[in-house]
Amino acid sequence: MSLVALDDVAKSVLLPDDSWLEILRGITVEVGAGDHVSIVGRSGSGKSTLLNILGMLDAPTSGSVSFEGREVRRMRSGRLDRLRGDNVGFVFQQFNLLPGRTALDNVTMPLGHAKGRMFWNRRQIAADMLERVGLGHRIDQIADKLSGGEQQRVAIARALVRKPVLILADEPTGALDIDTGASVMSLLDEVATETDAALVTITHDLHVAARARRHYRLDAGRLEPVDLGRAFEASTLAASVPSEGTPAVAESVS
Ligand SMILES: Nc1ncnc2c1ncn2[C@@H]1O[C@H](COP(=O)(O)OP(=O)(O)OP(=O)(O)O)[C@@H](O)[C@H]1O
Ligand SMILES: [Mg+2]
Repeated sequence: MSLVALDDVAKSVLLPDDSWLEILRGITVEVGAGDHVSIVGRSGSGKSTLLNILGMLDAPTSGSVSFEGREVRRMRSGRLDRLRGDNVGFVFQQFNLLPGRTALDNVTMPLGHAKGRMFWNRRQIAADMLERVGLGHRIDQIADKLSGGEQQRVAIARALVRKPVLILADEPTGALDIDTGASVMSLLDEVATETDAALVTITHDLHVAARARRHYRLDAGRLEPVDLGRAFEASTLAASVPSEGTPAVAESVS
């Protein structure tokens, strides 16, 4: 059974001039336990909007979203909040850390509603996860005083600490150097494998996308499978024939 399934999902928003902006249309996709999916697409193509719908943070304008076979639209908001808290780990594009609180407070937060050992040992579990993202020495630092890449790693630790079955990562390596990015991606893979979680990664980086088993592109509001091998070829070709207006690798997959 799929973990999360979108059926003919569309999302439109009303703009201040009373016109509608169609962000997503006709999106049907299933993500199962242990799945690893990458999504690329140009800036503004709707990737974060789609991730928010997959994670039940936002509702579609039409179409349905099901989590473990149950339709999300029919759930009361309290139940939906619990379902999300228990099962979904988000790495937000803008990190969304609690300002004025330490890295440890931020990573402990999702365990505040956990049960048993996870609740009683929450600070130790959070400290261990911060260690795994290479921030064991900065746990008492106020989150907004950390560098962008350090904040991103706190956000990743926070997303993983409760061992969610669905990990949604919005450009999780966007603020990281190549080596740190690679080790953070390995950690995401490792934690996902440990718990047979599904991992959906939005990225502009072909190498990050290549770690997934299924690859999609979001274009004009539609989600379509993408052949990453061909995208790699195109980027190698683009890199070998430098000319004005040659797209960067990132653009060639979006
Ligand atoms: N609530 C909203 N009201 C108005 N416009 C919105 C709203 N939500 C999203 N949009 C618009 O929808 C489009 C898609 O936004 P989204 O953040 O999903 O793009 P994205 O693919 O994640 O872009 P990026 O790569 O820059 O992060 C953008 O043009 C954005 O301005
Ligand atoms: Mg985005």
